[in-house]
Amino acid sequence: MSPDDFIPQPYSFSIDNGSFTWSSPSNIALVKYWGKKDNQIPENPSISFTLDHCKTITTLSFSKKTSTDDFSFEVLLDGEQKDDFKPKIKTFFKRIENYLSFLKDYHFTIETSNTFPHSSGIASSASGMSALALCLMSIEKELSEGMSTDYFTKKASFLARLGSGSACRSIEGDLIVWGAHEQIQGSSDLYGVKYPLKVHANFKNFQDTILLVDKGEKQVSSTVGHNLMHGHPFAKNRFNQAHANLSKLTKIFELGDLDAFVNLVESEALTLHAMMMTSMPYFILMKPNTLEIINKIWAYRIANGSKVCFTLDAGANVHVLYPENEQENVLKFIKNELVAYCQNGQYICDQIGFGANQIQE
Ligand code: DP6
Repeated sequence: MSPDDFIPQPYSFSIDNGSFTWSSPSNIALVKYWGKKDNQIPENPSISFTLDHCKTITTLSFSKKTSTDDFSFEVLLDGEQKDDFKPKIKTFFKRIENYLSFLKDYHFTIETSNTFPHSSGIASSASGMSALALCLMSIEKELSEGMSTDYFTKKASFLARLGSGSACRSIEGDLIVWGAHEQIQGSSDLYGVKYPLKVHANFKNFQDTILLVDKGEKQVSSTVGHNLMHGHPFAKNRFNQAHANLSKLTKIFELGDLDAFVNLVESEALTLHAMMMTSMPYFILMKPNTLEIINKIWAYRIANGSKVCFTLDAGANVHVLYPENEQENVLKFIKNELVAYCQNGQYICDQIGFGANQIQE
């Protein structure tokens, strides 16, 4: 498909007002997206586990307005007006205007809340932008005749991508690929697709416990970090490596090779942070406690023959990944040895999930 395929035909119906609610999860990348071209096109393919408990719930109410000159909307987080969210949403609306011809016809009220602690440092852009994209698609579906589920899902992911790249991987689950990869049929730079190949039972109900190491505002936003990959001395190798790692992962998933999984996933996490440290200007998002946790995980793995591993996103928090059959032991280990490194002892138990859900009024 091309972007033009998402430009709507004139709508068949007209509605004056209404509201839709979607709950959409966060996701955690195994092969990382870091570096993008214009229009939110990724420099390399990425793959993620969709999460289950970390979600944003968004209600989008809309009512027809008389003037269609500009966008009109308000944003509420947990019932309180959030004007600092507005610039990001305005940028999003501008980017998707061509693909949703009704955007200037309505005044929108966006009411949103997260299941994870407020300002926990967990990226809420993936769950937030995907929930909003889904609400907008629900409006388009009402205005259109006979929209297929496949088109709805693809376009929701396409729109979410224009809000925040990783958000396009939050519409469905449990493993989502975004970015064209030669071995993955149907993969696209424009939207996320379900991983179509065989996945061994070892990865069923995979666990992710998120250790909240630092809840502060990031010093460098993802958007700035992505941009620093332009002219980065290692960029080309990194992008090639991501393609190769995704190829390797297809074998790992097929065979259920947990040792190879651990190596690949941790290498991806550290490579992501290595790219940040070798950008110009350079920066470090890990904190001392991030490293303490990583070392503890390595020691635990050796001492117990465990398959637990870590990954990181663009921040100091650590995602501890492990198979379901290790849940009891790993949780004990986390409580006994890792919680001490978490801010206020906070962590979130999550696991692989299956994507967004519409909530009926
Ligand atoms: C490190 O999707 O937050 O989490 O497209 O600029 O909104 P924008 O960036 P964003 O970048 C996420 C990067 C990452 C890796 C990943 O999720 O693949």
